[in-house]
Amino acid sequence: MPLSEKERTRAQFGRVASKYRCSADHTDVEDLDLLFTGLALDPAHRVLDVATGGGHTAAALAERSGRVVASDLTPSMLREARLLAAERRAGNVVFAAADAEALPFRDAAFDRVTCRIAPHHFPDVRSALSEMARVTRPGGRIGIIDSVVPGDPALDAFLNGVEKVRDPSHVRSYRVEEWVEFLAGAGLLLQQAASLWKTHAFPEWVARTGRPKAVQWEVETIFLSAFPLARETFRIVAEGGRIVSYSDEKAIFIAKKPGGAPAR
Ligand SMILES: C[S@@+](CC[C@H](N)C(=O)[O-])C[C@H]1O[C@@H](n2cnc3c(N)ncnc32)[C@H](O)[C@@H]1O
Repeated sequence: MPLSEKERTRAQFGRVASKYRCSADHTDVEDLDLLFTGLALDPAHRVLDVATGGGHTAAALAERSGRVVASDLTPSMLREARLLAAERRAGNVVFAAADAEALPFRDAAFDRVTCRIAPHHFPDVRSALSEMARVTRPGGRIGIIDSVVPGDPALDAFLNGVEKVRDPSHVRSYRVEEWVEFLAGAGLLLQQAASLWKTHAFPEWVARTGRPKAVQWEVETIFLSAFPLARETFRIVAEGGRIVSYSDEKAIFIAKKPGGAPAR
């Protein structure tokens, strides 16, 4: 019987869970600093981190808020996130198996909800956002970070195409305009939008998803034969016929759930 999309995602991340806890890309917290400023975290806050992966966002949240629920679809990812929280002595984090598109939490249970570098894996990102909005209290904030693609359809197709070869659980990285529409569709008020470019060391990036060497080489070949605008936009660096690095854009959105006490 063919695997469902969610089973495929669990199987994909289950094979390589520890690589995400140790990943340089996920350990780098420049984007989290921006996210946390926008979220105006408070030591009394109850925070939900959706698709926590190796737990980097949850562990950082634990230092700035009261109680953190780190949730993920993949059980072995939750084990890695637990290890990271223990390493960081983050005693205020609890862990929950949860599909972002059907969160097992009551309405308005959280002051803040975060989701970092994961929505591009969700088959139905609109449902995930409406679930995040449902579990946020009125007046609470949601912080999203995800890879985004440029408006040019050829650049969009290049980056989403290469990501799909590298990672079978990749659904789509969206354009900023699509994100703005998704957030409004979930009834959220966009408060801040920012972005930064992240440079990925190619050998670690391509190996992280645990694909066979032939697939890793296929990905490298796509980068090596990139058309000039893609080479320039994604800052593809090659040396001696091998790819050294490339960069992609991470968008950071802070959105508010309407309602709650008026700001003073
Ligand atoms: C790249 S990792 C996330 C990185 C992490 N948020 C961080 O800050 O380091 C992507 C995660 O999304 C999870 N995921 C994918 N689809 C999901 C879904 N529908 N619901 C919840 N988690 C999901 C995967 O299991 C994986 O752990």
